[in-house]
Amino acid sequence: MNKQAEVAVAMRGITKQFPGVVALDDVTLQVRRGEVHAICGENGAGKSTLMKILSGVHQPDAGELEIAGQSVQFHSTRDAENAGVAIIHQELELVEELTVAANIFLGREPRTRFGFLNDAIAKRKAQELLGLLDASISPEEMTSGLRVGDQQLVEIAKALSLQASIIVMDEPTSALTDAETERLERTIATLRLQGCTILYISHKMDEVFRLADRITILRDGRHVCTVNKTETTASEVTGWMVGREISEHRFRSQQTVGKCLLEVKDLCVASQDSSQSVQLHNVSFRVHAGEVLGIAGLMGAGRTEVLEAIFGASNSQWQGTISLGGQAVSFAHPSDACKAGLVMVPEDRKRLGIFLNLNVTENISICSLFHAIRNGLLSKKAEEGIVAKPMNQIGIKTPSLTASISELSGGNQQKCIISRWLLTKPHVLLLDDPTRGIDVGAKAELYELIDTLCQSGLAVVLTSSELPELLTLSDRIIVMAEGRVTAEFSRDEANEKKIMTAATLA
Ligand SMILES: Nc1ncnc2c1ncn2[C@@H]1O[C@H](COP(=O)(O)OP(=O)(O)OP(=O)(O)O)[C@@H](O)[C@H]1O
Ligand SMILES: [Mg+2]
Repeated sequence: MNKQAEVAVAMRGITKQFPGVVALDDVTLQVRRGEVHAICGENGAGKSTLMKILSGVHQPDAGELEIAGQSVQFHSTRDAENAGVAIIHQELELVEELTVAANIFLGREPRTRFGFLNDAIAKRKAQELLGLLDASISPEEMTSGLRVGDQQLVEIAKALSLQASIIVMDEPTSALTDAETERLERTIATLRLQGCTILYISHKMDEVFRLADRITILRDGRHVCTVNKTETTASEVTGWMVGREISEHRFRSQQTVGKCLLEVKDLCVASQDSSQSVQLHNVSFRVHAGEVLGIAGLMGAGRTEVLEAIFGASNSQWQGTISLGGQAVSFAHPSDACKAGLVMVPEDRKRLGIFLNLNVTENISICSLFHAIRNGLLSKKAEEGIVAKPMNQIGIKTPSLTASISELSGGNQQKCIISRWLLTKPHVLLLDDPTRGIDVGAKAELYELIDTLCQSGLAVVLTSSELPELLTLSDRIIVMAEGRVTAEFSRDEANEKKIMTAATLA
């Protein structure tokens, strides 16, 4: 094999500006054929932008791109696909009105000899691909009904269906459970053996160190270095990413638990006509002022459903009792819950969290605008004053206060949503996988913030796709399986093994 053929991707001097930001500044990178190449960096470092250039979504302002030694210029994702490059996007981009199979083969639908769409083949092929990933999703299901983790699996199946030789995965496991992540890792190993080249973006260091052959670190749009995995450590990589020391997550400070703020008793949700929705059976728990209650469970265990029922965001009817500060409540709409001091940071930020037509400031202030009324009118200045504090507190990187929210990197969008809810000064905060896509530095800051808020009497209910995070933050953990609570552990009793055992109890 000659040297040229060993280089799958060569990027030279790639520069990309967006209004107000240099997203990439003269980035040069070589990716070898058949390697898993991880790209690491803080939120906003330029990882997704670089990968979007490789996959034809964006065109660079300057620089060259070569695929297998050939100079290329991609004007669209179709151009990139034709050259064998496929991407799984961080912000999932499925068409909600279509079925799973239709999404997988969008624009490349199998046809009969006479040119008609061949649904049967599409379904069968989709089933095969989903089977490879161990996904229990029906090809005929509408994508709109899928949870984030399942959407992520459909995106992965779609990339596999392209039979690309270069596959870009932009945080593919951010909403997957450990078991699904493991399955994906095995698929990646197989693809690699078949000669596929994989570019892998992740904030999870353990994953990066299990999968990658080499690691590239970006910081503020610049290439810091590319290293062999065997010649570095996670803390060294983190150091390059942030350019400063990150303190180890310290355990939560000693809590004095106050009175019960939220009590859920025998919460039941009957199954809907669509067999997809999880039913809840007699879910009960209490959360006190100053306490973090973690809810562990596999995907589909019912964690999100519990939080949505409490928050008034559920489409299904529920039975049982939900009490807030001793008062029985039943919120018809999330806005009623907010008024009563209970808020939720949802798992699916794209569908439930972000207002794409509003700018950064407006997205953060939208639930606290009454604080910005001056003489009966909304004062833009007061509004910007209100958002300044949470923006600094968790460090949101934005070109300007009035930039469109879609211009922010994925992790920074998530930080905006968290800030929005913190501004409402809630008594009870429901966090559904809040650190999805958030970098190590910001995670540590968010953990500190949760700790501080608890000390001032907030009650928190938390779910997370990362068990270590639940173990770090929670004072108590309940475990759910198939819509039931199967175990409860205090902070001292809880460990990964016990939780996994309880999570797989049918
Ligand atoms: N479409 C866009 N318009 C304007 N600015 C953008 C756009 N996309 C990205 N940016 C900016 O470019 C910079 C790099 O963003 P990018 O999405 O590449 O970061 P990232 O490393 O993928 O971060 P994350 O870990 O949060 O996903 C950020 O400052 C972001 O605000
Ligand atoms: Mg990104």
